[in-house]
Amino acid sequence: MNILKTPVKRRQFLKSIVAAGASAPFLNSSLYAKNKSAIKKPIPSTGELLPVIGMGSSETFEVTGNRAEREKLLPVLQTFFDNGGALVDSSPMYGPAEAVIGELLKLVKNRDNLFSATKVWIDGKQEGIEQMLHSMKLWDVNRFDLMQIHNLRDWKAHLETLRQWKAEEKIRYVGITTSHGRFHDELESILKTQPFDFVQFSYNIESRDVESRLLPIARDKGIATLINRPFQRGGMFGRVKGKPLPDWVKEFDCESWGQFFLKFIVSHPDVTCVIPATSKVHHMLDNMGAGFGNVPDAKTRQRMIEFYNSL
Ligand SMILES: NC(=O)c1ccc[n+]([C@@H]2O[C@H](COP(=O)([O-])OP(=O)(O)OC[C@H]3O[C@@H](n4cnc5c(N)ncnc54)[C@H](OP(=O)(O)O)[C@@H]3O)[C@@H](O)[C@H]2O)c1
Repeated sequence: MNILKTPVKRRQFLKSIVAAGASAPFLNSSLYAKNKSAIKKPIPSTGELLPVIGMGSSETFEVTGNRAEREKLLPVLQTFFDNGGALVDSSPMYGPAEAVIGELLKLVKNRDNLFSATKVWIDGKQEGIEQMLHSMKLWDVNRFDLMQIHNLRDWKAHLETLRQWKAEEKIRYVGITTSHGRFHDELESILKTQPFDFVQFSYNIESRDVESRLLPIARDKGIATLINRPFQRGGMFGRVKGKPLPDWVKEFDCESWGQFFLKFIVSHPDVTCVIPATSKVHHMLDNMGAGFGNVPDAKTRQRMIEFYNSL
């Protein structure tokens, strides 16, 4: 019997995972992937399709403990790949996260679809080259799919290297990032004048400035968008705690507040992929669920905003 066939059964299943906590056995965690195919969107510069739910690693994968501590995150990463995940985002800024991901990538199964994305975050051209080579070593890859300039840091120096590396096929795509509304003016002018494949910034139902600024530029210039802080670092769950979802969210196959937040983001026509971060299996499964089924249309998105603002 397909235990995910009805929303009630799916909810019961998710509840059982929640009850079991992060140490839940993850052998059954590929149910979403087995039952439906993940929603994908094209990267404008090539047309390559990318699953709309990726994963972040800031804080959640910054584990400094021993090997056993780090391997507690293996079921989280396994759940990501088992449910159609591809893009994993990291940065040298996230302390040990790149090393932890590299270690877990050696152990995880079904990782053929990995779309590796990290960042350069240092001053100086040569320092940037050394940092990126170090990241490659940590992930044990010959090339990254996406290399991003983190928070615009020394972007002119790194962009030169990234263009050369792309030509030499050491990376496939070039990107640049910011978050929580910082550097938007400068980022706008960079995007207008320099060629990028990807841009990453914050966007969620609570913080929507980019709808009128960066998202239209990305669309006009044919740049893929990666969305960070989809939950305002988790803060948005505080606002909805104990509040039931309205019945009409079933129309777009939404079963949790996490999926409500993520489906709002990925249903924007100019969003390519969102990268929620979690350290827990049941949250990963919940988040991956947002990458399947129907998504809200423009009218429903407006209804979601009004509903969220009324809470
Ligand atoms: N400038 C930049 O380039 C930049 C800046 C910011 C972020 N980023 C990237 O974007 C990623 C995402 O942003 P973020 O980490 O700042 O914040 P976020 O994804 O908005 O929030 C992460 C928090 O949400 C919680 N969470 C995740 N899924 C949940 C669920 N289904 N239900 C309840 N709680 C859930 C997590 O806690 P649990 O561990 O308990 O699940 C975690 O505390 C980062 O990890 C990073 O890769 C890039």
